[in-house]
Amino acid sequence: MKEKTAAFFSFKCILGFFFLISTIQVSAQIVTIPIATNSNLMLLQTDNQNRLKTVYFGKPLNNTSEYSSVADAYNFKDDNSGIYNAAYTPAGTWNFSEPAIQVKHADGNPSLELKYLSHKKELIDENTSITSIILKDSVYAFEVTLFYKVWQKENVIEQWTEIKHQEKKAVTLQKFASANLYFTNKDFYLTSFQGEYLKEMQPIESKLIQGIRTVDSKLGTRAMLLQNPNFILSFGKPASENQGTVLLGQLAWSSNFKLDFEIDSYKNLRLIAGINPFASEYTLQPDKIFKTPSLIYALSNNGTGEASRNLHDWARKYRLLDGQGERLTLLNNWEATYFDFDENKIAGLFKDAKDLGVDMFLLDDGWFGNKYPRNNDKAGLGDWKENAKKLPHGLGYLVKEAKKEGIKFGIWIEPEMVNPKSELYEKHLDWVIRLPERPEVYYRNQMVLDLSNPEVQNFVYGVIDNLFTKNPELAFIKWDCNAVIYNAYSAYLNKKGIPQSNLYVDYTKGLYKVLERIRAKYPKVPMMLCSGGGGRADYEILKYFTEFWPSDDTEPLERIFMQWDYSYFFPAIATDNHVTDWGKQPLKFRIDVASMGKLGFDIVAANLNETDRLFCKQAITNYNSFKSLVWHGDLFRLLNPHENDISALMYVNPEKSKAIVFNYLVNNRFMMSATRRPVVLDGLDPAKKYKLKEINLYPGKTSPILSDKIYTGDFLMKVGINPNVNLLRTSVLIEINEVN
Ligand code: DGJ
Repeated sequence: MKEKTAAFFSFKCILGFFFLISTIQVSAQIVTIPIATNSNLMLLQTDNQNRLKTVYFGKPLNNTSEYSSVADAYNFKDDNSGIYNAAYTPAGTWNFSEPAIQVKHADGNPSLELKYLSHKKELIDENTSITSIILKDSVYAFEVTLFYKVWQKENVIEQWTEIKHQEKKAVTLQKFASANLYFTNKDFYLTSFQGEYLKEMQPIESKLIQGIRTVDSKLGTRAMLLQNPNFILSFGKPASENQGTVLLGQLAWSSNFKLDFEIDSYKNLRLIAGINPFASEYTLQPDKIFKTPSLIYALSNNGTGEASRNLHDWARKYRLLDGQGERLTLLNNWEATYFDFDENKIAGLFKDAKDLGVDMFLLDDGWFGNKYPRNNDKAGLGDWKENAKKLPHGLGYLVKEAKKEGIKFGIWIEPEMVNPKSELYEKHLDWVIRLPERPEVYYRNQMVLDLSNPEVQNFVYGVIDNLFTKNPELAFIKWDCNAVIYNAYSAYLNKKGIPQSNLYVDYTKGLYKVLERIRAKYPKVPMMLCSGGGGRADYEILKYFTEFWPSDDTEPLERIFMQWDYSYFFPAIATDNHVTDWGKQPLKFRIDVASMGKLGFDIVAANLNETDRLFCKQAITNYNSFKSLVWHGDLFRLLNPHENDISALMYVNPEKSKAIVFNYLVNNRFMMSATRRPVVLDGLDPAKKYKLKEINLYPGKTSPILSDKIYTGDFLMKVGINPNVNLLRTSVLIEINEVN
């Protein structure tokens, strides 16, 4: 008891001491920094001790003269408030809540205090600006710059932080968040996404309660396998499609991340997002800049639908490689042949690709390795030379043969990985991430190469560069990444005297360096980011990729849910969907589902009966006629498969003159009342008139949808249309065209 009283007394003394300091420094002038999009305003403001705080996050205020009254309205006055709403919370001094940054200075001192120094706003164009704010420690030569890049029209903000110092020796960064946000509201709901192999992107929504809810990953490479860096925050009530304030967020980092959602004792929400500090104390040399990854978020006061459309627009225009361009439909041989093929078999498949009408053939895993041929997933990874038995005339021959057929040729690689049974492993054991004194641990019989090592970066770059140098007409790369990092240890860092805890960060930065070099030389070649499923898809790595592979689970019913959930964050042009033989759904259902993105096929085309083949060809022709709506149009999610027996969504062109509606039965129970209700459309012009036409009808089937009837947009968006989805019509595609 005595001890407790003494502790409390010294705590009061500390507070008293701080209070003294605060009274000494009252002279600081209040600085207010608005970070504004068209529909949101974040106000950052210094307090009387020159600490930067978030005092407002909400709808824009009309009068800037009232910015100064906000802090009082929220009563951010007592001693506690300051520990919660710091714009970037330091550790080791006055703060007792979860920090955004924690450091050990060159002299071993663990304290940090950040005070506002200056800020500036730079206009990039009429829609885009970057505000940067410098915060400085008053004792140590240590500085943090907060960056806020704002896309006004899309209501998208990208936030990151740069950390540097001029201390005499290296400083250890123990925590280094990208962003530290503060939201005042009554209730907060978080939708996070869990996953596992074949079950990626599973949403869970819950009300946040006092304390910290952490969403994180420690897998090293394919960070999204179990938990996902994407989230939906909704304010006041659970997220809904057309109502309420929501924030769609993502930590754009392809490795370990940590998102801390903390409801403080005022019931406000602190969000601290960044690289996972787990095993990642980072040694930062003087004058070097540590740039954190970005937290990217889209805001809307009208629900998740608008937020997604804004995020999609932003991604296509500013982020995803060639986001406003075209994509190649394809036939992939993975599920058709697995590792069992040779050049004749592959060249034979070109004919199928041509006959179906796709743009390209994609040769998957198994084409390389000689001493250790890649005939299964146990050997050969790392030895990127054509297998002489399977492909005696090399890849060049296949590229040429494909060209003769009038299709393009693409190839699978997994350049960050190695099988222990490979020449690469034998020659360069020191390039492999492994603990020298412990037994190796494998994920899919393979290990990860150490991309913190510049020699390994050169090697990985060389794999791609050689492929293109030898085969300039290679049209596509599928870049796979199947293993996680076990036994994290780098021989290179050890040799260089760099702490091992730099590995996760340096690996990821090494990967980006390689991709940067690849894109400098090959700016446009389409590349699919694959990770044995959705283990990897974020807006940092998607700067270098045109598309990604959401999951190896191609069972179409499952895919309706999964594609729906990915669609909150990624535009359809970025998602590769392949028609495979998974599941019991009819071919039409499978093709319709895969058409909600970039369409591909991974089937044995030779096994299709005549009608199926005819249907495939027709469906690909139809897809070509509406694909630009799916790729570049606005997405309206109409019926959520998690909540309804029917799922429906539509894509509308910007002129609102064309749309395509996808409808699916997602519950097989008999005589569901849902089938008696119309699907209410969205995104059309109420004043325009439209005709509907069902497309992708299986040969011999007729449609109950009247194609000569004219509807107003008003009717379609209030009453809707009944696609007549039922057990005999499990998927229905309706094209909508304006009638003049
Ligand atoms: C995992 C991918 O997701 C599959 O599509 C396929 O490319 C295999 N790897 C090949 O090993």
